[in-house]
Amino acid sequence: MTALAMMCATAHAQESTPSFSIIPEPAEVIAAEGQFAMTRETLIAVSGKEVQSSADFLVDYLERYLGYPLKTEKKTRSSNCISLVNKKSDEISGGYTLEVSANGILIEGNDAAGVFYGVQTLIQLLPTRAGVLPVLQAVKVHDYPRFAYRGMHLDVVRHYFPVSYIKKYLDYMALHKLNYFHWHLTDDQAWRIEMKSHPRLTEFGSNREGEIEGLYPGVYKELPYGGYYTQEEAKEIIKYAADRHITVIPEIDIPGHCMAVLATYPHFSTTPDEPKKAALTWGIYNKFNNVLAPTPEVFRFLKEVFSELCDLFPGQYVHVGGDECAKRWWQESEQAQRFMKEKGIKDERALQSYFIHYVQDVVNSKGKTLIGWDEILEGGIDKNCIVMNWRRVNHGVNAAKKGNRVIMTSSAYSYFNKVESRSQAEIGAGGVLPLRKVYDFQLVPEELTEEEAARIWGAQGCLWTEYIPTTWKVEFCIFPRMSALAENAWSTNGKSWENFVRKMEAQFARYDLWGARYSETFFRVNDVPRKR
Ligand code: ACM
Repeated sequence: MTALAMMCATAHAQESTPSFSIIPEPAEVIAAEGQFAMTRETLIAVSGKEVQSSADFLVDYLERYLGYPLKTEKKTRSSNCISLVNKKSDEISGGYTLEVSANGILIEGNDAAGVFYGVQTLIQLLPTRAGVLPVLQAVKVHDYPRFAYRGMHLDVVRHYFPVSYIKKYLDYMALHKLNYFHWHLTDDQAWRIEMKSHPRLTEFGSNREGEIEGLYPGVYKELPYGGYYTQEEAKEIIKYAADRHITVIPEIDIPGHCMAVLATYPHFSTTPDEPKKAALTWGIYNKFNNVLAPTPEVFRFLKEVFSELCDLFPGQYVHVGGDECAKRWWQESEQAQRFMKEKGIKDERALQSYFIHYVQDVVNSKGKTLIGWDEILEGGIDKNCIVMNWRRVNHGVNAAKKGNRVIMTSSAYSYFNKVESRSQAEIGAGGVLPLRKVYDFQLVPEELTEEEAARIWGAQGCLWTEYIPTTWKVEFCIFPRMSALAENAWSTNGKSWENFVRKMEAQFARYDLWGARYSETFFRVNDVPRKR
């Protein structure tokens, strides 16, 4: 088929078959004649063990949501079969083709991840309501991701979520073809990952005494609040994520945001004689002294915990935090000033950089790569560090120009803890983040050259949980914005707000099918009637 004929067919497919509501939009969708009626005898054929988890995901989805418990087998057959094939080609990772014909369904991935994403697209061709027979319109899909990094973050410090819910969060990510889970494990309010080298961090530092009611500064009720993940639980989550082609990136936030560490080890502070407790509230800079002192004991601590983290998490990336470290406490500390003088460190920004370089060396010595929030640029960083751009995009631009890889998660476009509209009753962090703004976030800033633009590794949505104490609220905040993020990060062409709005009717029906909660702001803002 010529390119023009293909374009016409694609356009025709979109016009004449509005029933395709695939999010994120694939690179190419071509409707064909006929249909495939799935039956209880439909077989899922698995070509190799590396695609078994894709088959398991499909089987689980069909059984859980549509009441179709299908069987998987190693052998394929000529009809009534869903074949999952890993082509093991060196084409773009995550790319796949999906063909639905009267005889069955063929998914061919460039790699195992591609097969998994083909399965996610197949899931989006299935009925969005239980009680409807799965009769699929014939279609050919050719697809691949725009960005290699498509992430979601979850802060489990301000509020803790059980392993069972983390798995659900990973399922939601998988259904959106997202592939990095950024797990924010430590902060001022708690340390939530077991460290065999420092068990007190979770025995003591995972607990705080109270809980905010209303918006900051709010009122605090006495409520002992704790929880942490054992290493066995972390391994369970890592495996669950890997089965969904998701890499877990653990974050230990230093040298600021360390109040829970200092509550556990007050002598790690520049003000060791002040009493310290895991923080009830938030805010930084002049509020409380949450920074680590540059002492030999602290650096030994950092070496031990980051080494242990590298050993526990098999992924390539470890996150050091590095954000919002108030320099005041080092300025006021005789010990810190003496340390800087001895080491020839010119100012407090360079001291922050010293901490980051120190952890980078530990992480690199384990064969891994360091990621940090964009403040790690202060005082200079090595080229092999990855910058997570959370503030204004100029920091991401700056990092890309300096030669660093960048993940775009600018708070104005990517922090899903903000309210979705001003009229929303539920409280949220400052600022409003409408769905459209997430969708329209320009991930490659115009001022970058082609070479610099290639350093934009991808995008991420963040969920800080200061005002998110329940899983209900998590889902209310991430849906539907996670769907907009996914399309922005994945879709290479065919991205269109109007088409996205059209597809959202099916997407909301899917949320209902999954039993997920969501914000209904979309219907109000876009003047779309809510169909039930
Ligand atoms: C951040 O929001 N402090 C990374």
